[in-house]
Amino acid sequence: MLLTATRSAQAAAAGLAVQAEAKGLYYGAAVSAEHLQEQAFGDAVVRECDVVVPENALKWGATESRRGVPNYSDADQIAAFAATNHKRMRGHTLAWYRTTPGWLAAALTEPRGIEVLYSHIDAVVSRFRGRIFEWDVVNEAIEPKDNLDGGLRNTAYYKAGGEAYIAECFARAHAADPDARLVYNEYGLEYDSGNSERRRKATLQLLERLKARGAPVHGLGIQSHIKLGNPIDERRYAAFLRDVAGLGLTIRLTEFDVDDSDLTTAAPYRDAAVASYARQLLDIALDQPAVIGLMSWGLTDRYNWLDSASPRTDGDHHRSLPLDANYNRTPLWNAISQSLAAAPARSPR
Ligand code: G3I
Repeated sequence: MLLTATRSAQAAAAGLAVQAEAKGLYYGAAVSAEHLQEQAFGDAVVRECDVVVPENALKWGATESRRGVPNYSDADQIAAFAATNHKRMRGHTLAWYRTTPGWLAAALTEPRGIEVLYSHIDAVVSRFRGRIFEWDVVNEAIEPKDNLDGGLRNTAYYKAGGEAYIAECFARAHAADPDARLVYNEYGLEYDSGNSERRRKATLQLLERLKARGAPVHGLGIQSHIKLGNPIDERRYAAFLRDVAGLGLTIRLTEFDVDDSDLTTAAPYRDAAVASYARQLLDIALDQPAVIGLMSWGLTDRYNWLDSASPRTDGDHHRSLPLDANYNRTPLWNAISQSLAAAPARSPR
């Protein structure tokens, strides 16, 4: 009886975006144009989100698979959905070493090859000027295991432009849309491990160098793909958030989900474990006033990238998102809702 009452109260509650907005935060999810065509998916986005981000549609490999022949059809569909439903759109992502067009590797090795990246940024950001309020400009430029100075990742962009490519990407994005908020996006920053600690240090130092050289970087995106079984370093994670905030930057969790691959218990136990692990992270993150947004990487377990990227060995689906495969709110939805309720209010930014 009590459980039924709790479930119906949960079903009737306002969407996560409304709850986030009451605290000065935004809430959103990664979407695809294809899924938005499904009425139930679109309705769920309208109910829960005030921000949408194309999961793949703005990646370079999607927008320019043939050099000089841009294709924005999926991104345009998502932008149209956002406009019709009074949602905002985040841009993901301009400079990422993965999901690039096949022709890019050779182009980057030409003399002044890095210019091709800057022209890409000019083109995409100016095309969506005024329609995308915030961009993940550079994504995943850190990899301490690559042993470069500053813990930078040894990508084709780095090889073509040295570290200076990162600041230049921000400068070009800013020139193309001076009103867009520009974000550096990174993963692997939460855990109690040497690897996470090196990643936190390298990320903070990169942001410091960008600020020191006057790059127009406004914030940090913390992807927040967390995996059950990895202990969160509460103290160092909170200190990292404070240090980033101390640089005058805002922070948002950009790709939040909980990978339950290694948990073999029955679904209700997995759901409870996912929810409590999520709450542990979110309570720390949302307590920091510089954190201004939260995005889930997908909205419903019906369409969950982890099912293909990291399939469970028992063949079951992942249960990592706030809505289940039938669009019902999950214990994870509750955890997000409770963390939002516990968060201090901040001025919307
Ligand atoms: O579009 C093709 C489709 O035509 C084909 O039938 C299908 C067969 O596998 O593949 C489809 O493309 C896949 C695409 O997802 C759409 O489903 C690509 O192979 C696959 O590589 C791509 O994976 C995406 C991945 O980034 C690489 O771009 C995931 O959906 C997406 O969730 C993931 O997102 C990244 C963020 O951008 C950055 N942070 C990490 C995060 C997770 O890896």
